[in-house]
Amino acid sequence: MHSFGYRINALLTFSVTILALMCAIASFSDNFNSPSPSSEVQVMKINWFQKKPDGDDEVSLTLNISANLQSLFTWNTKQVFVFLAAEYQTPKNVLNQISLWDGIIPAKEHASFKIQATNKYRFTDQGSNLRGKEFNLTLHWHVMPKTGKMFADKLVMPGYHLPKAYR
Ligand SMILES: *[C@@H]1O[C@H](CO)[C@@H](O)[C@H](O)[C@H]1NC(C)=O
Ligand SMILES: *[C@@H]1O[C@H](CO)[C@@H](O)[C@H](O)[C@H]1NC(C)=O
Repeated sequence: MHSFGYRINALLTFSVTILALMCAIASFSDNFNSPSPSSEVQVMKINWFQKKPDGDDEVSLTLNISANLQSLFTWNTKQVFVFLAAEYQTPKNVLNQISLWDGIIPAKEHASFKIQATNKYRFTDQGSNLRGKEFNLTLHWHVMPKTGKMFADKLVMPGYHLPKAYR
């Protein structure tokens, strides 16, 4: 006869094993979900564009951001962190990445959205390189699962230009 304590312990070990197995299956089954997020962003307005007294260029934009990230959500998704970055090249840096807007999407119902927003973070260059500058807008996402590994990916929207002159 096994003691009561032994049985409780065996039962506990069994449940922990099952739980671990379910977590493994959960994160594994996530690998079969091939998400297809979409996004479209328009620069609606250049609010102002100037060279600051310290010599660095800064621009203020109003963006029309629409995105559908619903396919990133599975039953194993806790939340999705998303940010929109301006990416461009300068003689000094192969990649300048400036976050313009970000957000946390708590649920699939909120993962399809349209917003108009002025850049939340400053679009400032480390220098005076922004006039006529070609840039990409890149939507990055980090998917935080309930269990398993976080994963990140992005969508590149190329072909944007800043004005040739300050305004
Ligand atoms: C914002 O973008 C959406 C989707 O691209 C478009 O349907 C809508 O007309 C745009 N709004 C404005 C004010 O430009
Ligand atoms: C912008 O996007 C294009 C096309 O995807 C890519 O070739 C280019 O390297 C990107 N530019 C930067 C600065 O990342």
